[in-house]
Amino acid sequence: MSDYKYMSGFDSHFSSEDERCPNALPEAQNSPQKCPYDLYAEQLSGTAFTAPRKENARTWLYRIRPSAVHEPFVPFKNNKFLSHNWDEHEPNPNQMRWKPFDFPSSTARVNIVEGLHTICGAGDARSRHGLAVHIYLCNASMENAAFYNSDGDFLIVPQEGILDIVTEFGKMSVAPNEICVIPQGIRFAVNVVGPTRGYILEVYDNHFHLPDLGPIGANGLANPRDFLTPVAWFEDREVKNFQVLTKYQGVLFSASQKHSAFDVVAWHGNYVPYKYDLAKFNVINSVSYDHCDPSIFTVLTCPSSRYGTAIADFVIFPPRWSVQEHTFRPPYYHRNCMSEFMGLILGKYEAKEEGFMAGGATLHSMMTPHGPDYKCFDGASNAKLVPERVAEGTQAFMFESSLSMAVTKWGQETCQKLDAKYYECWQALKKNFKISN
Ligand code: FE2
Repeated sequence: MSDYKYMSGFDSHFSSEDERCPNALPEAQNSPQKCPYDLYAEQLSGTAFTAPRKENARTWLYRIRPSAVHEPFVPFKNNKFLSHNWDEHEPNPNQMRWKPFDFPSSTARVNIVEGLHTICGAGDARSRHGLAVHIYLCNASMENAAFYNSDGDFLIVPQEGILDIVTEFGKMSVAPNEICVIPQGIRFAVNVVGPTRGYILEVYDNHFHLPDLGPIGANGLANPRDFLTPVAWFEDREVKNFQVLTKYQGVLFSASQKHSAFDVVAWHGNYVPYKYDLAKFNVINSVSYDHCDPSIFTVLTCPSSRYGTAIADFVIFPPRWSVQEHTFRPPYYHRNCMSEFMGLILGKYEAKEEGFMAGGATLHSMMTPHGPDYKCFDGASNAKLVPERVAEGTQAFMFESSLSMAVTKWGQETCQKLDAKYYECWQALKKNFKISN
């Protein structure tokens, strides 16, 4: 694939026409009696029709056929590890760490939908409240197929392998250290070359937003101009059996149609897929003493109905300068009324240089204590505090949720990657307390 073209901005109202069809967008109205090029007009709504104007999200698509032209959905059986059953294993309050998840065997061809493995989550897609975290492990492209999620938005974090994504809105190439968001309902297909792995944060409640900046001011963290949305691209292709796949109420279904789903010639609106390069994040932190809380590293947030409390935040720990004076500089020990799922895209994580590996994960659940291991504590407590680069060549991230997440049977048992010795990394932390010197 080639010719990726993007427009930049966040929460923008975009319009785009495939360059092969100039003036495909109707003038001055959404749904004329006849559309240019005899296209069909179709609205894709991402919020209630009546949502406040500043939150209202919808896009008008001008396509060769309406997306309603398909045969009935039937259950899709080629995935055993997608789950929305949060009771399939006993709750487990322990600190959890997973070694890197295995790619599919080279003798099997597994595409990204077949390779979705749910690891943890909470809530219910039917009541539109909750989230799920999935690991994707695949080695094959989706051929003559498109997928859409009926249940919520996908925030996709590639860790190994580039995702060449075709969407109804155009094409995106998303490499490790970039992310993309495919909002609810938008159809897409993913092409890959070789073993491919990554993480998906799925949210049911709401869409992702940029966090408010408060006293930081108008600039900083993830800047809106760095979000890229694809330019319209279509194919007019008859196919004997094109599969439209959906995850609906947590379960996969497929429907057959006789044409490519990627037949949108032009579109306009503010409900769109987008990508972001994590290297562009403007890192802000303390330049005097102590830490800012890790919320200072929030790239995107999915707000809940509780003010200031997220269903999920997507947080990164990028390369940066550490300059705090008379401060223990690694992450502090803590217990949290949130669930913290972490993954590692590149390199080694500063608070635990061993054990937490790229392509693996950790989960520190509701009020489960955690923090640096002994080696990190000892080194940082005695280090000379000069300005230093930290996290160079690495990118760890966190999905932090206000919900108490359950771990699936795949996460607890089937994947066989759970590190039973994780707790040991804190056992060497000895008593240093002395009543007098
Ligand atoms: Fe934490």
